[in-house]
Amino acid sequence: MTETTEPQHDNPLLEGLSFRRTPDPCALIIFGASGDLTHKKLMPALYSLAFRGLLPPRFAIIGVARTEGDDDSWREEMKQAVQQHSRDEFRQDVWDGLAANMHYTATDFADEGGEGKLEQLVEQCDKQANLGGNRVYYLAVPPPAFPTIVEALGKRRSATGWTRLIVEKPFGHDLASARELNTMLWAHFDESEIFRIDHYLGKETVQNMLALRFANGVFEPIWNRQFIDHVQITVAESIGIEGRAGYYESAGAIRDIFQNHLLQLLALTAMEPPIDFKSDSVHSEKVKVLKALHTPGPKSVVRGQYGRGFVDGEEVPAYREEKDVASDSMTETFVAAKLFVDNWRWADTPFYVRMGKRLARRETTIAIQFKRAPHPPFEETAAEGLRPNVLLVHVQPDEGVSLAIGAKVPGQGMTIRTVHMDFLYGGAFRTGMPEAYERLILDTMLGDGTLFTRSDEVEEQWLLVDAIVAAWQRDRPAFPNYAAGTWGPPSSEELLRRDGRSWRRN
Ligand code: BG6
Repeated sequence: MTETTEPQHDNPLLEGLSFRRTPDPCALIIFGASGDLTHKKLMPALYSLAFRGLLPPRFAIIGVARTEGDDDSWREEMKQAVQQHSRDEFRQDVWDGLAANMHYTATDFADEGGEGKLEQLVEQCDKQANLGGNRVYYLAVPPPAFPTIVEALGKRRSATGWTRLIVEKPFGHDLASARELNTMLWAHFDESEIFRIDHYLGKETVQNMLALRFANGVFEPIWNRQFIDHVQITVAESIGIEGRAGYYESAGAIRDIFQNHLLQLLALTAMEPPIDFKSDSVHSEKVKVLKALHTPGPKSVVRGQYGRGFVDGEEVPAYREEKDVASDSMTETFVAAKLFVDNWRWADTPFYVRMGKRLARRETTIAIQFKRAPHPPFEETAAEGLRPNVLLVHVQPDEGVSLAIGAKVPGQGMTIRTVHMDFLYGGAFRTGMPEAYERLILDTMLGDGTLFTRSDEVEEQWLLVDAIVAAWQRDRPAFPNYAAGTWGPPSSEELLRRDGRSWRRN
């Protein structure tokens, strides 16, 4: 297939960035500066932004954590994190420019005086670099720490400039706690100042779902129950819980992935075209989908937990054998469900979703399966190898989109087989894929909340999860029920088989 590419820039690093605004000068204050997220995602993202000259011209990064340390030790630690995790080559000049604006303060906010110490440092940086009082606070800490920090920040808001607050997931544990958290945040910040992270929304391929649907005339007319047989969404990971038992034991797959990433993918697939791409217009359309979403009953949701098995040829332990996991843990590491969106566009069209840890491979895909052609005029044997059309969005890895179509096999006679028309990001664009956090940090500085989640979205997501979890209290599945390295428990296959369908061939 011939691919048409966008006009090429002289500098491939800037491809696709021609319309980006430069954010105002500001200070970014990271709570949880010695944590995993800062090492693996936030600092590498800031480095990549600096690499492309996308950070504000006057800027400061202030790390806050309980761990002892000073500016120099934190800079060294972050340098190593960038060298290890950045998608870009390490350039000393880029790093030096960034590091010169980095500061660290070791403080426990629960202690008297902790907030005063931070305020002093931020004001000092502001004065030196003339930041105009603009602040982005990033809460990369466990949720129990939120209230103390938010209250302290709320009380000491800068008298000039703007203030924005990035809140990492998990946003609550259920609907009640999410509402409580919202109320606590609103006591100090306006909704427009709150940026709730769902990092899947920062992924290029997830945003491309909107481009695919709304920038092309060919898809929208057939994007409905008349032409689509069903939708399959898979968020599969081959990794286990990576030492995060403390969090995962009480979260499980339903709170870790289903409640946020998966439901957001579904909402973007099913939403109506918004009237524009302003933040509230997009959120309002997604909320309508989430409100219309339901499972037909407990039998339409299955859960699993992995036992021992092989991933990439290596033997891996069962979930119950992971460090700090209870030996009789009933935490699910896999969920599959049949969902319906009760509206005019989607009535009776199943959305089959599945997500899990320690599955056969890492793969996030959205598959739109169209109905079969109404009357193929060929002999039955001619079309034996023909499957219905599928539009497959590869969110990750191998980012791209592919359309499965029937084509004639060259030669005498009429034999038809399924072939794929592929668009691969790597082939069409010269630039590498930005990391989600680059986009999300930059958007916060620009005050654009489109790729974050609004309070009502999060609450609707919890409403569905609470209903599913409530039904789970009634039975106790025999865990583990799938081997690591497979595609989940047999009940997941059964869920589709009952409807005369099957999961896309893996
Ligand atoms: C996080 C979950 O939100 O997303 C992790 O807490 C999961 O458990 C991760 O591994 C997956 O993100 P990605 O970007 O690697 O698909």
